[in-house]
Amino acid sequence: MAEHKDRDVLQYGDFQTPPELASEVCTLLARLGVNAPAILEPTCGRGAFLAAAIDAFPSARIILGVEINADYVSEAQKRVGPWAQLEQGDFFLTDWAGVLGRDCGPWLILGNPPWVTNAALGVLKSANLPTKSNFQRLQGLEAITGKANFDISEWMLLRQLDWLKKSSGWIAMLVKTSVARKVLRQAWRQCDPVGRAAIYKVDAMFHFGASVDACLFVLPVNVGRTSFECDVFDALKADSPSGAIGFHDDMLVSDVASFFRHRHLVGHNDDYVWRSGVKHDCSKVMELVKGADGRVLNGLKERVEIEHTFVFPMLKSSDVARGRVRNDRFMIVTQKEVGEDTAGVALCAPSTWRYLIEHGQFLDARGSIIYKNKPRFSIFGVGAYSFAPWKVAISGFYKELNFMKVGPVGGKPVILDDTIYFISCRTEDEADFVLSLVRSPPYLELISAMIFNDDKRSITADLLKRISLKLVAEELRLSDRYSSYAKQGETGQFSLALGA
Ligand SMILES: C[S@@+](CC[C@H](N)C(=O)[O-])C[C@H]1O[C@@H](n2cnc3c(N)ncnc32)[C@H](O)[C@@H]1O
Repeated sequence: MAEHKDRDVLQYGDFQTPPELASEVCTLLARLGVNAPAILEPTCGRGAFLAAAIDAFPSARIILGVEINADYVSEAQKRVGPWAQLEQGDFFLTDWAGVLGRDCGPWLILGNPPWVTNAALGVLKSANLPTKSNFQRLQGLEAITGKANFDISEWMLLRQLDWLKKSSGWIAMLVKTSVARKVLRQAWRQCDPVGRAAIYKVDAMFHFGASVDACLFVLPVNVGRTSFECDVFDALKADSPSGAIGFHDDMLVSDVASFFRHRHLVGHNDDYVWRSGVKHDCSKVMELVKGADGRVLNGLKERVEIEHTFVFPMLKSSDVARGRVRNDRFMIVTQKEVGEDTAGVALCAPSTWRYLIEHGQFLDARGSIIYKNKPRFSIFGVGAYSFAPWKVAISGFYKELNFMKVGPVGGKPVILDDTIYFISCRTEDEADFVLSLVRSPPYLELISAMIFNDDKRSITADLLKRISLKLVAEELRLSDRYSSYAKQGETGQFSLALGA
């Protein structure tokens, strides 16, 4: 029984808002000038927000609440009195056009939607999700959210935005801050008629016992002037914003003021290309570690004795994040470029080939589509740049902007794993120069203004590619030096150590 209850709490994201918080939010909305004659709470629970809204907006002419749990509907009805219209209903099945058709607005759609992801619902085998037919009508959720895993609340807020585009009003919801940002990105990308938004940070641990970055998200729709910016306040009580996020040059910006100071550095990197490291999806077989006794072991703890030809020193994300050079970790690199025939390994390194054949079952079991219809033992993300003797690298797994210079180890180029981004360089001088550009204050300030620290992976190749190193060099009055390196081109210049 208790187990059922816990499961329901999770699948319905059932964390009721404390009345004091609901009241503080509604008082703030009234202070901000939100003055809606029609109020709706689409997942109203036990009615904390509806009760607070009745107090804060005494002149409202219609107050509606919908909630999936029938017991909560009765409880909420008792709490708010008979004139508020409460209904038991499922968000995903409710005829919202009919509900909003009951008043011409403007509407205040407020509350606290369930904080649960479709992945978590999958684990619980719960069906508290948008239906398949909805997905199709919306041309696939990935088209809307850009990914397969999504927060239910994000989906709900995007629907609310659609409703208000046909009328007018405000969305005011307690959500994860990342959800607020995704909804904003979607609205800004679509050039929706949204006004200047606001994010007020909320202490979710204090109010809900949840360790998430949460906020009150206020989004005016068809109200006032259209804006591509959102003020960020450090608390509900804060009088002035601590900063603003926005959408400029087709990207989400975490610090609008700093972004505009350095916006002239945004541009294409024609000469230097950020690359990802090598992907193999089989560290048990493809990665080797040399112990203090000099023995080389694979991830299965087996001793490996193979030719050096296809074995390269490697660094992982954690090494690059700490700026650590090591000479005890290696990767077997079976190709010089994607798709190259691996049969050549058998000819120049028979022991390596035997090792690969003996462990073929692990490599064959790799599920990713990138290995389908490719030569056996293929890897990915490999090219001439992978074998550049010098590189400037950064980990995509860590938040810190630690750029690192990587040079050869034992006379061989160091191979970086696929969680690392890098620029390839021919010489140490060139690597020092590139490093001086990416560590310069203008570069770091601009990239910081484009990063959201609470994103799972804030540093991406896409982001790095946005800043032109040529323009950074110009700003630092280093154009001549830049040109002398850049004119040599990127790939095809390195002597590949493979097969040497
Ligand atoms: C985070 S609680 C918030 C409740 C209330 N809004 C408040 O602020 O106290 C989320 C509420 O959404 C309800 N809910 C979850 N899935 C729903 C659905 N598909 N349709 C309608 N309500 C739903 C839950 O039962 C729960 O009461």
